[in-house]
Amino acid sequence: MKVLVTGGAGFIGSHTVVDLQTSGYEVVVLDNFVNSNRQVLNNIEKITGKRVDFVEGDVRNKTDLDTVFKRYPGIEAVIHFAAYKAVGESVQSPLAYYENNIAGTVYLLQAMKAASLKKIVFSSSCTVYGEVDATLLPITENAPVVKANSPYGNTKKIGEELLLDASKAEGFNVVSLRYFNPIGAHDTALIGELPLGIPNNLVPFITQTAIGKRKELTVFGNDYPTRDGSCIRDYIHVMDLANAHVKAIDYLHTSNENFSVFNIGTGQGNTVLEVVTAFENVTGTILNYKIGPRRAGDVVQIYASCQKAEQELGWKAERTLENALETAWKWEQYLATSPFMD
Ligand code: WQD
Repeated sequence: MKVLVTGGAGFIGSHTVVDLQTSGYEVVVLDNFVNSNRQVLNNIEKITGKRVDFVEGDVRNKTDLDTVFKRYPGIEAVIHFAAYKAVGESVQSPLAYYENNIAGTVYLLQAMKAASLKKIVFSSSCTVYGEVDATLLPITENAPVVKANSPYGNTKKIGEELLLDASKAEGFNVVSLRYFNPIGAHDTALIGELPLGIPNNLVPFITQTAIGKRKELTVFGNDYPTRDGSCIRDYIHVMDLANAHVKAIDYLHTSNENFSVFNIGTGQGNTVLEVVTAFENVTGTILNYKIGPRRAGDVVQIYASCQKAEQELGWKAERTLENALETAWKWEQYLATSPFMD
């Protein structure tokens, strides 16, 4: 079976392409490399031994979308990763976020409709739950979706709404995966996360500090009402997250549901300071960090109930936080010695 992966050279996209290929799927990637590197496709081939078919193009460009579906007949499902994802940047440039994440999704659905293709997996986020009462944790998919606190978060909320409407009116079959905090890299360390500039996310900031690219990590707040005062998140290994997409594609072929959402996390919450300590333990390094003020917009704590994914998708996270941190560190070391970057 052939699957189109938009944003397939990106962090989660590239790991998903590897899992799809090793699970026997043929993969076509559409990527504009705006937040990724074309060398990623070569490294995917090194891992799987299979060349990735790809079109360099943009989901906002109807001609690019038509090219994909004409050049690769037989695509049976789409996994739609291509989107902007930086919360702070979205506050500065909301129109770019709505154009890429919302208009891009609309154009993709229109091109799919023209190609008589109805199955789509969408990248959503736990950000749709906002700040939740501790009594609701671990959070289930039945928790209310709240007003987003950034344009980025709003694009995920609206993305789900437009897919729900399209599933009702146009017969699309949709699986929306609400990711918690993806971290880590492939075991080979040939692919991983490639942040542009100064990382916003915790784990790339940790690995860049450990390797000497950044002077020190700032832990954003230690006065939250949690066990050590730092925020709690559900950190999920990117290879586990990738596998959820393969399971979602299988589900689209067997289920009668037109629109489903699933939490994709581990079910475990860890504080920022626990992640720092785990990183030091698995890598044998001492991390230079300080406690700083809270970061605007951070929720205190969130972690997933993944029972629905386990029961209906037959998916469950298998890897540990330690393994995720170990592979993230291996990847940072690989980047330091390869001409991959910069
Ligand atoms: C994790 C924790 C920070 C950096 C964001 C998006 C979300 C999702 C994933 C993505 C927080 C703390 C971080 C640092 C720190 N979407 N931290 N020092 O904010 O949970 O989620 O990314 O594409 O929608 O909002 O992830 O990795 O930024 O932060 O102390 O230098 O680490 O305060 O508690 P977040 P994160």
